[in-house]
Amino acid sequence: MKIGFYNIQGGTGKTTIAANMAYYISEIIRTIYIDCDIYGGNSAILFDMETDPNTLNAYLDGKCPIDDIIHEYDNLSVILCDTTPNAFNTDFDINRLLDVINYADEKYDVVILDLPPNITEGNILFSNEEISSKMIVVAEDSVPGIAGALKTIELLNALDIKIIGTIVNKDRNIVDYEDILNNIIAIMPYDKKVEEQWIEGTLIIKKRSSFGKELTFLAEELTGSYIEKDLATIRALKIAKEFKSKALGKFDDES
Ligand SMILES: Nc1ncnc2c1ncn2[C@@H]1O[C@H](COP(=O)(O)OP(=O)(O)OP(=O)(O)O)[C@@H](O)[C@H]1O
Ligand SMILES: [Mg+2]
Repeated sequence: MKIGFYNIQGGTGKTTIAANMAYYISEIIRTIYIDCDIYGGNSAILFDMETDPNTLNAYLDGKCPIDDIIHEYDNLSVILCDTTPNAFNTDFDINRLLDVINYADEKYDVVILDLPPNITEGNILFSNEEISSKMIVVAEDSVPGIAGALKTIELLNALDIKIIGTIVNKDRNIVDYEDILNNIIAIMPYDKKVEEQWIEGTLIIKKRSSFGKELTFLAEELTGSYIEKDLATIRALKIAKEFKSKALGKFDDES
């Protein structure tokens, strides 16, 4: 199953939350995190892998096979982008990006998609292909932040993309967002320690922090109810498919 993190606004905390959430889930089920922001993705800094040349950009440019761009960070698999200005030279082909996502979806139970904050070509949300991913909107506790979240929700609804809910991040009691947003699944505190993870190259969820604590609560809730239920359905469908093809094979043998 695929879960995307999105907002049309930049800097709300999508990468921070997607990467840390993916890490948490990877301790329970096979999980891969994909940074889909091929021009602006900077999650390689967070994973301390920014010097590795085998990036998503390298694959899109035909420089290496898919398997070479999957890296391991403890139990979590990650596909990361080129953090240098060389990223702008990437030969972008939406179908090759979708191939990567589909390949990951075959191999892993959960695929976390960290989407770029734009509504232009290059964002898989706006390709004509069905990506069948459910979205978590990451909003920021500020007036433009909540306005951006409302716009994002409208846009996803117009695209007929399912929304799991909205996470309000960097909460500092600025906006009465609970009166405005009716699909909040978590509220993450503003926490200075979040900034340190970029410098240290260690995910915040590996350390004690108020942010990490809240994220763990949400990740537990998501895996416990939503993800496991969905996976059970996916597994049941797989078994049914296998059974069907076996049965058909049997009939073929008999005929
Ligand atoms: N809860 C938080 N408390 C304090 N700082 C935070 C918090 N969440 C994120 N930040 C900081 O906000 C900045 C933006 O975070 P991040 O890169 O995760 O956002 P993003 O939505 O992925 O951005 P982009 O749109 O550029 O991809 C970073 O410097 C990050 O450390
Ligand atoms: Mg980001």
